[in-house]
Amino acid sequence: MVKICCLGAGYVGGPTMAVIALKCPDIQVVVVDITKSRIDAWNSDTLPIYEPGLDDVVKQCRGKNLFFSTDIEKHVSEADIIFVSVNTPTKTRGLGAGKAADLTYWESAARMIADVAKSDKIVVEKSTVPVKTAEAIEKILTHNSNGINFQILSNPEFLAEGTAIKDLFNPDRVLIGGRETPEGQKAVQTLKAVYAHWVPEDQILTTNLWSAELSKLAANAFLAQRISSVNAMSALCEATGANVSEVSYAVGKDSRIGPKFLNASVGFGGSCFQKDILNLVYICECNGLPEVANYWKQVIKINDYQKSRFVNRVVSSMFNTVANKKIAVLGFAFKKDTGDTRETPAIDVCKGLLGDKAKISIYDPQVTEDQIQRDLAMNKFDWDHPVHLQPMSPTTTKQVSVTWDAYEATKDAHGICILTEWDEFKTLDYKKIYDSMQKPAFVFDGRNVVDSEKLREIGFIVYSIGKPL
Ligand code: NAD
Ligand code: UGA
Repeated sequence: MVKICCLGAGYVGGPTMAVIALKCPDIQVVVVDITKSRIDAWNSDTLPIYEPGLDDVVKQCRGKNLFFSTDIEKHVSEADIIFVSVNTPTKTRGLGAGKAADLTYWESAARMIADVAKSDKIVVEKSTVPVKTAEAIEKILTHNSNGINFQILSNPEFLAEGTAIKDLFNPDRVLIGGRETPEGQKAVQTLKAVYAHWVPEDQILTTNLWSAELSKLAANAFLAQRISSVNAMSALCEATGANVSEVSYAVGKDSRIGPKFLNASVGFGGSCFQKDILNLVYICECNGLPEVANYWKQVIKINDYQKSRFVNRVVSSMFNTVANKKIAVLGFAFKKDTGDTRETPAIDVCKGLLGDKAKISIYDPQVTEDQIQRDLAMNKFDWDHPVHLQPMSPTTTKQVSVTWDAYEATKDAHGICILTEWDEFKTLDYKKIYDSMQKPAFVFDGRNVVDSEKLREIGFIVYSIGKPL
């Protein structure tokens, strides 16, 4: 029986390995992590991440050919294929701080693999890493290997949160990069055989290592660029009376452009888009390509502009001050169908409003009060460095309340900011909400989810991204 071990039981490692276990009953899969609480949660009825369909997949294979463990060294030493799916956050200090990827977690994983391996291994880069990382990892492994053969493969993950299981069941493509040597190609075929259990062979692409590593950064940069493009247009729509939904529909009808990923919003969030583009920018700068670096930097600048434009709109509409006014925030996760708040635009919007002394009442169906308070107390880039977790600031805690009910969050509020596109926000009883709010009652729809005309009929003053007032 082929044995797989995955280092990192996070948003990628957990769901990806669960699907491999489900689709490959002949393979034993063990997911390991340094964080005991995470492993305990994977072994319990309450999984550590919320992802539609995940519970079902885990229940079907856990204890059969899918295991979660903290006994890292044992499972690494027994495995034939080791996936490394640890976090690769943005560096917070030293050379490249604020841009370069921090490979500390990756490097320590590689050193541990070299220390404990007693047989040949295929080591798979699942984390998103800078192009050429495999070269560095290879050096670490081979210099400490005691004659053991390691083959490094790049197999970046393209799943999106909220649709992870669907994406893993039916990926647009699986990408595997390897060395162009006979041993490298043999390793590529071994990994290909795993995915071939359920992915059609013509959708499994094989390339050299550097193309695979760079394709992942490129794909995220292209996706984020579409959002910044439509968000840039949303500002122009507001200035001219055009409607961004109509513009993006018309633009997306061009089959060369396509309709997906053109929803204007308060800004993109999530753990990867910003981090991966910053990483790309840094790589371009290091390779003497400042023009290319500046091109991609603009994608992030427009995203930051979009978030601050939203905050400015809230404050200026509410008579230039939100001091001591209650603002209800509906949605805190970075997108619907996830409880993940990493780099969510809600953090920047809430911090902007708190800076103007607003009182914020937050409701999100999947995010706990603890998580929200921690996010609002943290410095930029610290969120993915657990060792740097900071204490909460007392001012923030006092100004922010969190509820489990949209009606309570909006009661007595002067304004509502919709920051995540949860389906349930479309069907709230807005008449009941209006009656319980201070007047004039404002709605700032950062996701264009509500029917603005209906809300205006009720009496709300409504601002939607990229639409006429
Ligand atoms: P995550 O923070 O949810 O999970 C990473 C896990 O790795 C953590 O639980 C951490 O405790 C563990 N870890 C760190 N060092 C370890 C070690 N030495 N040994 C064992 N475990 C260790 O991160 P994630 O969202 O799963 O992302 C992981 C990687 O995948 C990142 O590079 C990210 O860019 C990439 N990625 C993420 C997504 C996504 O949707 N989240 C999608 C595609 C790619
Ligand atoms: C994204 C990519 O879609 C995945 O392919 C990739 O694997 C992953 O990053 C990663 O590398 O981590 P994810 O961040 O989970 O996935 O979710 P997306 O659906 O891409 O949404 C990202 C952000 O963009 C969200 O805040 C979302 O609300 C926003 N968005 C998305 C828009 O504002 N408009 C859109 O049209 C689409």
